[in-house]
Amino acid sequence: MQLQLSTWPEIEAYLARSRAILIPIGSTEQHGPNGLLGTDALCPEIISRRAGDQAGFLVGPTFNVGQAQHHMGFPGTITLRPSTMIAAMTDWTQSLARHGFERIYWLNGHGGNINTANAAFAEIYHGVTFAEQKGKNSQLRCQLRNWWELDGVMNVCRGIFPVGEGCHATPSEISVTWFGYPETVNDTPMSPKIAPMGPILDAEDYRRRFPDGRIGSDPSQASIAAGEKIVAAAVKSLVEEFSSFAVS
Ligand code: NI
Repeated sequence: MQLQLSTWPEIEAYLARSRAILIPIGSTEQHGPNGLLGTDALCPEIISRRAGDQAGFLVGPTFNVGQAQHHMGFPGTITLRPSTMIAAMTDWTQSLARHGFERIYWLNGHGGNINTANAAFAEIYHGVTFAEQKGKNSQLRCQLRNWWELDGVMNVCRGIFPVGEGCHATPSEISVTWFGYPETVNDTPMSPKIAPMGPILDAEDYRRRFPDGRIGSDPSQASIAAGEKIVAAAVKSLVEEFSSFAVS
């Protein structure tokens, strides 16, 4: 069930049986020579929508632009400043809370979002505390989970890609997007086959160190079949984790 494909009476009816919503959150940033700019938003979106359809829970619109300053050396990347992201996540959450949502689960697709998302939660809870002082007793809880850290997912990824997984533009995440959007599969060659590793600093330094955008990975190994296995593992774990969070 997707919020943006629902009517308000359907959301009102959903709220009578659940106070929990799942929001995919990611980034719009370069993902190497063969990866989509939307990869980090599409992965949690693909997994969330399948889990929501399977288990009957509500999935919100994807928060699809995040912290991508270090990818700004590559065309197409869009970034928010941290303060904008904190403000936007707070506004999304307060809007949902106004309608009665009390459990907001954010399924994240981008490591660079983690610090800022946690800062947003601190901002949100600050607001809750001061609202309580005015007599409102909110039970609001937020949770952030990186999709690749869902139970069992990394084991599947390591099993399929023992070499060249790396840490940016990984064959695992590219496979998930190809499973979701098979028309985007491409056979772009990688040179070198496995990209260099190194620190992530500012945008110009990033492009110097990692000229094609990848870090440590060989995403030419990606496949729809691999994506299908990874998504299946992630959906299974997400259904379990979200279901228990919803009633926590
Ligand atoms: Ni990524």
